[in-house]
Amino acid sequence: MGTHDNPGRRRFILGMPAALLTPPSVSASRPATPLADTASRCAPRADFLDELPVYQGDAGALPALTRLFPRLAFSRANGARLQIANILDPALPTLTTAAHQPRDVGDDYLLQTRPGRHVLPWAPLFPKPTRILAGAPSLEKAFHIGRLFIKDETSERYAVFGNKVRKYEYALPNYSARGARQIRTFGSMGSNHCTFLSLTARLCRYMPAGAERPRVRLGLYPQTLGPAVLKKLAIMQASGADIDLLGGDIETGYEILKQRLRRRWHGRPEIAYFEPGGSNALTLLGHVDAILELAEQIAQKNSAMERAPDVIFVPLGSGATAMGLLLGCYLVGWNTTVVGTCSQDKSTWERLLVNGDAHTPFLVANARHLLQRGVTLLKSFGLESPAIASLDADRLFASQFRHDALTWRPAYGVASRLTRAIAARADAEGMHLDPTFSAKAFTTLATWGRRGRLKQRTALFWSTYHSLDPPGFGNPLLHYGSCTPEQILASRQSEHSHV
Ligand SMILES: Cc1ncc(COP(=O)(O)O)c(C=O)c1O
Repeated sequence: MGTHDNPGRRRFILGMPAALLTPPSVSASRPATPLADTASRCAPRADFLDELPVYQGDAGALPALTRLFPRLAFSRANGARLQIANILDPALPTLTTAAHQPRDVGDDYLLQTRPGRHVLPWAPLFPKPTRILAGAPSLEKAFHIGRLFIKDETSERYAVFGNKVRKYEYALPNYSARGARQIRTFGSMGSNHCTFLSLTARLCRYMPAGAERPRVRLGLYPQTLGPAVLKKLAIMQASGADIDLLGGDIETGYEILKQRLRRRWHGRPEIAYFEPGGSNALTLLGHVDAILELAEQIAQKNSAMERAPDVIFVPLGSGATAMGLLLGCYLVGWNTTVVGTCSQDKSTWERLLVNGDAHTPFLVANARHLLQRGVTLLKSFGLESPAIASLDADRLFASQFRHDALTWRPAYGVASRLTRAIAARADAEGMHLDPTFSAKAFTTLATWGRRGRLKQRTALFWSTYHSLDPPGFGNPLLHYGSCTPEQILASRQSEHSHV
């Protein structure tokens, strides 16, 4: 367990590569001192969790990637050397760890049903496809957009959904089938990745028959506190995650490096290390699926969107969302431009140290590396496809990806006056946006529009907004806004004893 002294006072000096992907910490603005009796009020209740509406999965479903490449679809009759299987499928034989892992990919993803028959396990964690909405005509007019559509990755019905959870559809069954008893990851106190990972691991079905749920262990570092951050911390705690509060870069960087080295050299399968933000070559596939689903929706002519978008606007954090969309566009043959809005940046020396590139914005260079790893993974599947044979990550990135590394200012999680005004305008049309990611991506869209770059073009806004307020979810957690992190976490021992 980590220390519990005032995390808000600690400075976060950047240290190790993965730590750099995480938001910079700031001095936390503390909520008003709570009353003495808040100790029990601030102890997150776990009882409501079991009442939350969670998708129970469909044992017959497979990801969209298997419809584009039918050789990837698991069946006993399929002789392909790599297949994607639904972990809930009762016909799936027992999986064992593959003896030869693809070292060039740098990650240990593969399992097998028998030697040489590799399987990537997958689990459907929320219903798909998600909705395509027509943008309000007033927004099209205000921002000079030919046509505006919104890919609505939110959910009003389920507690577990969205861009983080798409990544877990590949990651969690993989960890679980490899025998992981613990999943370790890192993030800020209000990390959406840590929140959704805790919830998903606790509530959803992603394990092979008979396997136990792995525990989630989170290394959290400080960020500016506010009701939304404290609510997420309370969700992590209520979900039964083991939480270590980390003091700063050196500690976070050291912890992350330790996990990475352990994975590489000591490979203890019972501890799975999951990259901050949930982005790696494997989880990028979840967002390739998202584009393939979109292409299916367009082809089936059952949405207002009748053709491929010219431009997609999406937030850029740890990168798998934007890079998966980019790779998906390539695979369906669209020359759509994907525009990623950075959620933060780092100093020149940090860019140089981690990415070997002092000039490219930090998250952009990180995303390019991630795309390279994703392409290497996809090529390792042995698909006989001309599109995959001629796929070149750097060429794709240069030709179809654009970034906005300005709009994130003044700070990670803090919206500028322009962003607040644009978000308010969107909100008036029923489009809810968060200040850290989606409002900034929508500001990029509006800026492109105002500069005349979207006239007579079809723009798709990729909405990753997480309200964390579906039915039965919001009310039990609303009062945590007046608690301190220490009060929320104080109950951890008693919580863990019965989770
Ligand atoms: C709401 C939201 N949108 C977008 C992103 C960015 O996604 P990615 O980390 O895959 O780049 C995040 C990442 O934390 C997020 O929480």
